[in-house]
Amino acid sequence: MKRISVSSPANIALIKYWGMRDVQNTLPNNASLSMTLNRCVSRCTLATLQRGVSDEILWQVSSSALIPADPTLRQGIERHLQTLREHFDHWQPLRIATTNSFPTGAGIASSAAGFSALTVAFAVHCGHSPQHPDLSDLARRSGSGSAARSVLGGFVQWPCDALLLSGPARQIAPAHHWPLHDLIAVVDTRRKTVSSRQGHLAAASSPFYLTRLDRLPERLDNLRRAILERDFDTLADLVEREAVELHMIAMTSQPPIFYWQPATLAILARVRQLRSEGLEVCATIDAGPNVHVLCTAQDSPGIFAELRKLHGIERWILDRAGDGPRLLHEHLF
Ligand code: DP6
Repeated sequence: MKRISVSSPANIALIKYWGMRDVQNTLPNNASLSMTLNRCVSRCTLATLQRGVSDEILWQVSSSALIPADPTLRQGIERHLQTLREHFDHWQPLRIATTNSFPTGAGIASSAAGFSALTVAFAVHCGHSPQHPDLSDLARRSGSGSAARSVLGGFVQWPCDALLLSGPARQIAPAHHWPLHDLIAVVDTRRKTVSSRQGHLAAASSPFYLTRLDRLPERLDNLRRAILERDFDTLADLVEREAVELHMIAMTSQPPIFYWQPATLAILARVRQLRSEGLEVCATIDAGPNVHVLCTAQDSPGIFAELRKLHGIERWILDRAGDGPRLLHEHLF
C-alpha cells in the first residue's frame, strides 16, 4: 500500500482574519499576516483503497491507536475531500488518518494545520509537488481561512493582494529571517464553545468593526516592514494592539463573545511588565483564552522562567517560527 504522510504546522495570526466578505467561499474582509509554527503540527497519512469501498477516516489517539474519526471531524474531512477530488480529478477511495501534536479545537489553529496537512498530502498523492501553487486557495476552501497560510512557512500574508483582498497566501519572509519564539500558554485545553466561524459572522455587528477595517491596511504595512527590518519594538506594539482589538470586536459583537479567562489577562499584564523592564516580548491571542507569547530567541529562557511562575495555566508549549509543511517517512498506519 503506497502511503503519503505530511506534517503541517499551525500558525499564529499577528494581524487577524476576522469577518468574511463571502461566507460560501471563505473570503475575508481583511488581509491577515501570521507566523507559521514549528512544533504545533497536524500529521496526516493517506493511502488509496480498492475501488467500491467507502473512505476510511481515522484519528490517532495519544496511545498511537487509530479510532474512527468523530462525526464532526469526519464531516469536515469528507467535505474537503470532495473539493480536492474535483480539483485534482482523483476519485479513488482513501484511508486517511490524522492527529495533532497539540490540543484540538482550543484556539491553537488545529483546523488550519489539519486542513493544510490534508490538502498537501492529497496533492502529493496525486503526483504534485508540496509547493503546488493552488494549495493555499484549496486549503482555504476547507472553510478554515487560516489554513490558507499554513501551507507556507515563515511569515505569511493572506490574501497576497491586500487591496483587492484576493489571491492565495504569500510568504513575506522565511522563518530563518527572524526565528522568533512562541511560548504558548494553554489556559484551557477544552474545545472552545464559540467557533471562529461564529465570530466571523458576528464581527460586522460590532459598532467598531468598520473603524477596524479602515485602519488595518496601514497596520499591515507597518507590521510587514517591522518584520523585514526585525524591529521588535514596533512589532510588539502592533501585535498587542491588534490582539486586544480583535477581542474588543468580539466582545462588542451581537451576541457578544468573550474568549478571555482570568489567566489570559494575568499573562498579558506580566508580559507588558517584562517588556517595560527591557525584554523583547509581546503577546497575542487568537479565538480562545490561550496566549501566544512572542519573544526573541535570546530573551526566551528568562521570559519563560518568569511566566511559568504564573497560576491558571494548564500547560506550556514552547514553539518557534517554522518552515511549513513537510513530507514524513513515518506513517500513521
Ligand atoms: C482569530 O476561520 O481560519 O484565529 O477554521 O477555526 O481555524 P478555524 O478559524 P478561521 O479563523 C481564524 C481566526 C483567528 C485569526 C486568524 O487566524 O487570522
